[in-house]
Amino acid sequence: IRRNTVPQIAKRKGGEPIVSLTSYHAHTAGIVDRYADFILVGDSLGMVMHGMDSTVGVPLDLMIMHGKAVVRGTKKALIVVDMPFGTYEESPQIAFRNAAKIMKETGCGAVKLEGGARMAETIHFLVERGIPVMAHTGLTPQSSHVMGGFKTQGRDEDTWQAHIDDAKAVDEAGAFAVVLEGMVEPLAAKITKLISIPTIGIGASVECDGQILVLEDMLGLNPWTPKFVKVYGDLGPAIEDSVRRYAEDVKSRAFPTEDEVYR
Ligand code: KIV
Ligand code: NA
Repeated sequence: IRRNTVPQIAKRKGGEPIVSLTSYHAHTAGIVDRYADFILVGDSLGMVMHGMDSTVGVPLDLMIMHGKAVVRGTKKALIVVDMPFGTYEESPQIAFRNAAKIMKETGCGAVKLEGGARMAETIHFLVERGIPVMAHTGLTPQSSHVMGGFKTQGRDEDTWQAHIDDAKAVDEAGAFAVVLEGMVEPLAAKITKLISIPTIGIGASVECDGQILVLEDMLGLNPWTPKFVKVYGDLGPAIEDSVRRYAEDVKSRAFPTEDEVYR
């Protein structure tokens, strides 16, 4: 295997921070591939690529389609594909069937699913049968209807033990890493110290073993970004400027020119 492997990522616990971004698209994934240890084909693609209000409506086939695009567009990074809502919660058997379908059809190296202690049995079932699993706890967007929206976790210290138990459960079940989303820094620090697998933070502070962001958010393509996003790019205005100049050129017949014409 020429790509980064699951054991290579797992070994980075407590070492050099793990770099990750999401990608859903072959050409951008090719750029991210030069810098990221792993690339997540996140179900956030439902919102970012397809304009959905949440990730709840994302179908399995859509994850597979974008997963294939990202695998084809990359060489080096480990590719992790999100299992969408409704494809793994019901039973370990159903989870295995759908995770195997994702791996076989996309060629990805691992899947990710949301949930802590309640998903431990399923994580164990998948890992024992050859499917590496990244877990995802803290703020879990697929449960936003139960939680009443996207809420930062751990503001009340009484809730910490449940989050710690979730992280320990996925570690013991055999997950190779866990995404900690939207939680206060001292809780993320505590979890990172207590478990044996790398924690990948998104809105969970610098205390984690690695970081992930949604690529479009950090590129400045999303009209609104949450507090935890650092916006490194300015692609929204750059795209608008290009589209506006193209439209002007077409109307004024300044495009196409001699350079773009077959003679
Ligand atoms: O779907 C996604 O993009 C994710 C990351 C934010 C971790 O799950
Ligand atoms: Na996700």
